[in-house]
Amino acid sequence: MRYWKKLTHEEISARIFSALGKNVDYKKNAVLGVPASHLDDNVFFTDPSQLSQAPFLSSLVKNPNHIGCHTLGDSEPFFKGTHDIEREVINLCAEDILNGEAEGFDGYIASGGTEANIQAIWMYRNLFVHQDEISSKDIVLLFSEDAHYSMFKAANLLNLTVGVIKVDEKSRALDVEDLKSKVDEFTTNGHSHFIVVANMMTTMFGSVDDIHAYTSTLKSKGVTYRVHIDGAYGGFVYPVVSKNADLTFSNPEVSSVTLDAHKMVQAPYGTGIFICRKDLIHHVMTNEAQYVQGMDLTLSGSRSGANAISVWMILQTYGPYGWHEKIHLLNYRTDWLEKELDALGVQYHRTDSSNIVTMRSEDIPDDLAHKYGLVPDSHNNNPKWYKIVIMDHVTLDSMQPFITELAERKK
Ligand SMILES: Cc1ncc(COP(=O)(O)O)c(C=O)c1O
Repeated sequence: MRYWKKLTHEEISARIFSALGKNVDYKKNAVLGVPASHLDDNVFFTDPSQLSQAPFLSSLVKNPNHIGCHTLGDSEPFFKGTHDIEREVINLCAEDILNGEAEGFDGYIASGGTEANIQAIWMYRNLFVHQDEISSKDIVLLFSEDAHYSMFKAANLLNLTVGVIKVDEKSRALDVEDLKSKVDEFTTNGHSHFIVVANMMTTMFGSVDDIHAYTSTLKSKGVTYRVHIDGAYGGFVYPVVSKNADLTFSNPEVSSVTLDAHKMVQAPYGTGIFICRKDLIHHVMTNEAQYVQGMDLTLSGSRSGANAISVWMILQTYGPYGWHEKIHLLNYRTDWLEKELDALGVQYHRTDSSNIVTMRSEDIPDDLAHKYGLVPDSHNNNPKWYKIVIMDHVTLDSMQPFITELAERKK
């Protein structure tokens, strides 16, 4: 591990305060030209003596702006200290979690998984348009029917053609015949460029796509393609619990990955993570961003540096072994739930080693689903599935009353 270390609270505090110390101090330095400042101390609690033990709250109060991308070229000099922390988060995720080679990646902390997915698709759309002078509608965005709805947002915004691949009702695996026949149809109709989004754990089922199914099908057709991995849900889980590294950067077919620290990592909202291989992100450079020092290569404009700091603090508090233990504890609880459901004869889907259990709705009374906050696959139509996501707060104690009530209903 090059970046991921377990650090003490004192070490973490020292590093964050040192980074904040390298940023501009609005109260001490002359900073007359930026439309930015510290948080308003008529409203927020900003007493330095009270904040000296609270690095995250101090970062909120100091309010560093992380506009732009800090893994490439220059950045705004005012916030250099905390830009370094963001760069370290990107490198940690790319190298120590996703098996990438040293110094091989660009990326930034996005507002969430949605933005990181759109950023990736935008980047490949522009790459294909720049490289081969095609139009957006000629490009097909391929993803499975279990993929997150952000793919539809991206296709709509970027004017792409959509190809949705069926999955098997039970295993949730890609339907390879459907994939082949759809790709066949697209190529017959003249489409020669594909952006694939493969899932590293889907929202509803925790399922993981077979990336080879996509790449071998597209290769056999001789078309141009790029693969993005949506690890918004599974990026901090799947690499820890699975030996399958096909969806990480150790696979040369993977060009970019979305992670999301505000899900399993329990970071504050606003901590999506976009990571791509070097020599790609310039395709989304906005030349007109002249007032920003360095290049703006991101979908967002201004964004808070406190988000990057929170992810760095959480990952360094656990370290790689502590994180491994945390995820395996969630898996242990999920194994327990699976056994209880088996004993009750409830039909469910659980992807191997995932911490999502998705139950057939016919086995779960609606009022129980409502009472225990289970999430349906659809709020509009009659749901076919209800899921339980084993998060930090979802303990055996919190699941037991649900199991007990379900058992009573089954009598
Ligand atoms: C697999 C997957 N991708 C993308 C997203 C979108 O993430 P966000 O809500 O952070 O934009 C989600 C959210 O649940 C997700 O599960």
